[in-house]
Amino acid sequence: MFTRRSVLATPVALAACNPFASAEPAPSGPIPSLKDIAPFPIGAALSSAHLDDPDWRALAKQQLSQLTTEWELKMEYVLQDGPGTPYRFEAPDRIAAFARDNNMRLYCTTLVWYSQGASWLNDLSDSDFRKGFDDYIAAVTGRYAGQAVGWDCVNEAVAEDGDGLRDCIWSQRLGGKEAYIERSFEKAREADPDTVLFLNDYNLEYLPRKRRTFLNLVEKLMSRGVPIGGIGNQAHLDIEAPVGSSAAFLRDAASLGLPIHVSELDFPKHHEGLIDTRTEPQKRAQQIAHVRDLAEAYMALPAAQQFGFTTWGLRDPDSWLLREEGKNWPDASPLFFDAQSRPNPAFQTAVDAFSGKS
Ligand code: XIL
Repeated sequence: MFTRRSVLATPVALAACNPFASAEPAPSGPIPSLKDIAPFPIGAALSSAHLDDPDWRALAKQQLSQLTTEWELKMEYVLQDGPGTPYRFEAPDRIAAFARDNNMRLYCTTLVWYSQGASWLNDLSDSDFRKGFDDYIAAVTGRYAGQAVGWDCVNEAVAEDGDGLRDCIWSQRLGGKEAYIERSFEKAREADPDTVLFLNDYNLEYLPRKRRTFLNLVEKLMSRGVPIGGIGNQAHLDIEAPVGSSAAFLRDAASLGLPIHVSELDFPKHHEGLIDTRTEPQKRAQQIAHVRDLAEAYMALPAAQQFGFTTWGLRDPDSWLLREEGKNWPDASPLFFDAQSRPNPAFQTAVDAFSGKS
């Protein structure tokens, strides 16, 4: 270990000229179950605190077949108590137990991320740093071996402008940008021979140069025999971007033949900037158009590449986007369900896409 964190009640009436004018009415009667409809696992991220909420548990059991540890298997949490103290696993262990008890897959994130480390790691000697890194991956991956269906092994390795890979403590201390990535995958594979190891990133739909750099990195890792087993597309959607970006990325990514995980889907209706001229129905229709683009393109993938479809939270209030560490957007309504577990308008779009109706 290293010694030294809805469906509008009524169909929305949209101007005929509105390019997004196609919001479906909220489902009437019992809510369809996405996990029963979709031909692939349906997931959501959670923190262990959600397990104390009976409404959350009821909706999760109805809708989900996979859970992602949102924060509590990140280094910031596991190493929270500092050098020389035991790793913290009580929260992720609770999530793992709930998944096991409810026949849900467990997906874990993230072993290595540029944005999290622990400042005291910097003080370690090079050999202690390497040993600490290797021991951390062995301990954390090994603990859930046999249950974790997959890991975001390395998260957000590509520079935002697509000009190469991010510089970070891991690239600086472990022999370079590609070296730390390869080491991460190899050490994780040593600790768990069966879990699927993903390279995960965001904005791959919107930034062609970042997408190219990401896919080139995946190809390079595959060609070197690095045990990368899948591509994670976070899918934090920008509903004001042109529709079609998600489908374009999935087509590109699918060409590599690896399983693809929609790993962190949300689709906030918030507008960055002072003036938002959109009406509420127009915002909802934009959400629907982007969710349809992604969901239908995901359905079009070969079954072997449909690893799973995960939202970054289950209900609107669960979203990181409403919180300080996210975007602090109280009006985001970025997920399939509202605070009362009622379907938001985009839910029916997912039901239609996953049942092959759209
Ligand atoms: C965020 C979680 O939602 C927060 O709870 C945590 O404090 C920080 O990480 N992209 C990612 C995720 O890859 O790991 C981030 O999750 C959200 C952005």
